[in-house]
Amino acid sequence: MSTAIYTYEEVAKHNQVKDAWVVIASKVYNITGFLDEHPGGEEIIFENAGGDATENFLDIGHSEDALKILKSKYIGDMDPSSKPLLQKVTKPTEKVKKSQGNPTLALLLAIVCLIVGYYVLND
Ligand code: HEM
Repeated sequence: MSTAIYTYEEVAKHNQVKDAWVVIASKVYNITGFLDEHPGGEEIIFENAGGDATENFLDIGHSEDALKILKSKYIGDMDPSSKPLLQKVTKPTEKVKKSQGNPTLALLLAIVCLIVGYYVLND
């Protein structure tokens, strides 16, 4: 049997209470149904659904028992070439589109204005 391979795009689709996946250390887990059983609270684990929970999971220092539960939810591995999604993918792009000006050109213009202004004032 071959291991299922997932990308961050695929995992991101499973961010619902009734359909929740997380990535921990490049492995994918289907934690649907475990959210309301989580001893650390439903909310905190749900916030990680559809994304990479490695840091949060390790930061808490989960027990061996927690690791056992986690192992029972394993569904596949991450595609090593898949990169974690930026949280707000659209925002930086919007910014780039809006600021169509060239900062170097703007700086040059400002310097020219200063020089011209200097000579005009000193005439
Ligand atoms: C995804 C799989 C996860 C599993 C299977 C899991 C399992 C568990 C278990 C069994 C406990 C009880 C204490 C222990 O045995 O360590 C626990 C506690 C806790 N978990 Fe998780 N957890 C998961 C994810 C997360 C994530 C992503 C976070 C943080 C964002 C988190 C935060 C906590 C917190 C804060 C506690 C309470 C610790 C305490 O007060 O002792 N857990 N978890």
